[in-house]
Amino acid sequence: MPDASGPVAAHTQLASVPLFASLNESQLRTLAFRAEERSYRDGDTIIAQGDDGNALFLILSGKAQVTRSKRPVAVLGPGQYFGEMALLDSQPRTADVTAEGPVRCLVLTAWEFWSAVETKPEVLRAMFKEVSRRLRASPAAFSE
Ligand code: CMP
Repeated sequence: MPDASGPVAAHTQLASVPLFASLNESQLRTLAFRAEERSYRDGDTIIAQGDDGNALFLILSGKAQVTRSKRPVAVLGPGQYFGEMALLDSQPRTADVTAEGPVRCLVLTAWEFWSAVETKPEVLRAMFKEVSRRLRASPAAFSE
């Protein structure tokens, strides 16, 4: 019986993340092997608005609250991800992301993310789709 934690479990969980739907099993294994799993407790700040950072966080379990300038904008759950904005444009983090209860994430460095994109450009297409969706859901993004 394999251990319930670590790269084996992470690889299985990655398979259900829509962002990586285009990756085959061996590509998912590579990604899971390189990524780091991190656990957070209720109330922990995972990302702080204004910080530098270029890692991408995939939620394996639990919920994360996204707060922009003290205003709650989204709650993200398993299979969803955050941290893509600073990863894409190397600018400061646009929001706080806080653990709502215990949260487990798989953290990918920018280098790991771009390696996955090189093998499968569809990953980038999936990410742009989600970025557009988040933009549409943020009316403030379109105000003068
Ligand atoms: P980043 O700016 O790198 O760090 C904070 C993250 O919060 C950001 O990337 C997004 O992943 C996430 N985020 C910011 N605004 C929203 C939003 N309106 N809806 C969902 N997630 C968001």
